[in-house]
Order: sequence, then structure tokens, then C-alpha cells
Amino acid sequence: MADNRPIGIYDSGLGGLTVWREIRRALPGESLAYLGDGANCPYGSRPREEVQALADAAVARLVELDCKMVVVACNTATAAAIGFLREKYAGMPIVGMEPAVKPACLATRSGVVGVLATERSLDGELFRRTAARYGSGIEVLTYPGTGFVELVEGDREDTPEAEAAVRAAVEPMLARGADQIVLGCTHYPFLTPVMERIVDGRAAIVDPSPAVARRVGQLLDRYGLRASADNRPALTFRTFADELYRLRLERKVAAYL
Ligand code: SIN
Repeated sequence: MADNRPIGIYDSGLGGLTVWREIRRALPGESLAYLGDGANCPYGSRPREEVQALADAAVARLVELDCKMVVVACNTATAAAIGFLREKYAGMPIVGMEPAVKPACLATRSGVVGVLATERSLDGELFRRTAARYGSGIEVLTYPGTGFVELVEGDREDTPEAEAAVRAAVEPMLARGADQIVLGCTHYPFLTPVMERIVDGRAAIVDPSPAVARRVGQLLDRYGLRASADNRPALTFRTFADELYRLRLERKVAAYL
């Protein structure tokens, strides 16, 4: 049995497009319904209860749109709400973001791993549990990337301002021997060109999005939800902000692919 309904992908704003891209590459036959909140971005410093309510409203909208699966392509919303969402929308497969601490801890040779994420992600249970489980004997350095999301949302990700902000985050980690830098927020891969210039081969930059796309494929198979071979995928973009923001989502995708 094939299922041609869309996969819903949700983020606080533009950041989830980095996950959208990986899903599109891995599963080109699937229709994708992207919802970038936009009206309430950034989420990163908001109280957990507030992020949970925002994530609830977004998933409710994707359910209304008849999505067959939901990807919470936002680390902050995953940290604040994934358990709540899975309970409330039981029956709907819901994939969240992984903090990617596991692959970084497995790959490190220096024994020092740096994690960039929002304040809410770093103080969440998911991050604490993952770091405790895989980070034994490893120094896990964290940095709340305050202002990074705003740089991306403002299309300022490749500017001297972005370079200064990323340098302030990453140089101290490199100085302490980090050989893995984890992008713990889906907005941050937009900063990769700047980051690569700064890191200059001294550490690997770890983006969890390809692993999330693989997980989506596995769940489609497990639940028999793959689209038919002749499906003509519909790619739609929605927001809780205005039409201008919606157009920005489309433009960002076109520029980013
Ligand atoms: C934010 O909206 O502040 C960040 C989104 C994320 O954590 O992926």
C-alpha cells in the first residue's frame, strides 16, 4: 500500500529548511508540507511551556493538512515538547531532532566535543540524558548560540557580524582541543560556510540532519507509508507569519538548494 499524503516538517522559522533539504534529497518521491512558524521565532530562550504550546499549534495544523508523518525540525521544540506531542498525537509518527552528541562522542579523538545550541535545548532533559550516556570520559563543551538564529532569519549568515559571532563561540572550543563541533540547532547549518572558514580543518562540523532524513525513511518503511513510484511530489510552504515570510521560505529554499 502506498501513501501519497505529505510529510509535515515544522520549525520556528527558516532553520528547518536545512532538514527539508536532506529529506528532499533522501526521499525525492515524497510530498513535503513545510511549516515555518515565523510569527514567534526565535524559540530558543522562551519558557518550555510556551514552546510546547507553539509546537502543539504547529503539529495541529500539520494534522489538519492530512500529513502522514511529522518531523519536528527544530531542536528547541524537540527538547521542550517531543514527549508531549507523541502522547497527544498518538498514532501519528513524529520524528524529532537528535542533539548529535552521540556521533560526535563516538568520533572524537581528542576527547573534547563542542556543542552549539539554544539555551532551551542545552538545559533540556534530552541533551542532558544524551550527554550523560555518550559523553562519559569526554569533555562536552557547550555554547548557547544567542543571536545565531536572528542572523539566519535576517539573511545575515555570511557577514562580518556572523563571522565575529561564530568565532566567539568556536575559537574557545578549538583552543580547548575540541575536534568535533555539533550544530545543535537547525538554523546553524546556514552558518556552515562561515564556520568552515574559521574552523579551517581543525575540527569536524557535525550536522544531524542527514541522520534525521534517514530515520524518516526507516519510519516510512516501518509503517508502510512510502509514496507510490508515480507520485508527483507537491512541495508546499506555510507560516503563521505573513505572506512575505512565506515567500521568504520559498526563496530561501531556491537559494539554498
Ligand atoms: C530557535 O527558534 O531559537 C531555534 C530553533 C532550533 O533550536 O532549532
